[in-house]
Amino acid sequence: MATYSYGGCIEQAYRVNWKIKDVLGTVDFDLSRPWLPADLSGSAGIFCLNPEEKRKLTHVEMGAYAHLFGFLETFIAPLMVDLALDSEGEDRQAFEALTNFASEEVKHMHLFREVSRRVDGRLGFPLKLIDGQSEVARAVLSKNKGAVLLLTSAIEWFTQHHYISSMNHSDELDPLTREIFRCHWMEEAQHARLDHLEALRLFKDMTTIEREETFEDLVWLLATLDGLLEQQAILDCMNLGRYLGRTFTEQERSEVLESLLKAKRHCFIESGVTHPNFLELFLSVTTSSQQMRVQGAVGLLLQKRPIQWNPSD
Ligand SMILES: [Fe+2]
Ligand SMILES: [Fe+2]
Repeated sequence: MATYSYGGCIEQAYRVNWKIKDVLGTVDFDLSRPWLPADLSGSAGIFCLNPEEKRKLTHVEMGAYAHLFGFLETFIAPLMVDLALDSEGEDRQAFEALTNFASEEVKHMHLFREVSRRVDGRLGFPLKLIDGQSEVARAVLSKNKGAVLLLTSAIEWFTQHHYISSMNHSDELDPLTREIFRCHWMEEAQHARLDHLEALRLFKDMTTIEREETFEDLVWLLATLDGLLEQQAILDCMNLGRYLGRTFTEQERSEVLESLLKAKRHCFIESGVTHPNFLELFLSVTTSSQQMRVQGAVGLLLQKRPIQWNPSD
């Protein structure tokens, strides 16, 4: 089992801490390059787009990718404040590490809002992005804290995987995009370790009934996340049509939508719940029947077809 410490996390957090102005600097996004690596994009599965249109698709997808992080951080920041209060007066290092974690997430939300503003400026029109983060955060935070923490752990581990596996060594990727997610990756590394420590602390004192509730809630949270991805995939499809100045046939639209949603499910669900460090935590706090229930629900989500296109959207 991995051994992390609150003290180690806070020390490393101070070592890598960055400012938004340094991340964004003076360089702008480069329209001649992809803004999202091929394995995080739906472009490979789309045959009705030419190579230039596929590159433009990654511009639209990265705008949504960055926005979705800010969207999810809207519940992660208050979750960490809540967890920090559990440690106040009991464990000084845990309190400091968790409050710093919350503060970094607030900074990330500001960063991703600024990224959205710059993306819109570069593309020349405002991307349609899912809204309602405060309402979603309220609903998420009404669920069992252990479930929200497990979802958070999956999210923070996939930030590590996406940067290391797909962005770090890509010569082709837009340099500003790589810098944004490099900086995010550096701070998220401590977040993922703190999620692990806090999950072990919470699960240690949970009753059997509370554990059952946790996994019911985790399935609900994953389905809710999937619903958000569906909404954004539809908006991406609309954004792409506007960016390309192209009206898709029904068949083309369904091909684009299906591939976009598949890529988003891979990015935001599959690459998190299959990350080895998430699995190490998940398997240590679950019984085999709970594992089967959650894994079965995830399997169904990943197979689900996109929702029907609604022309009034
Ligand atoms: Fe973050
Ligand atoms: Fe984070």
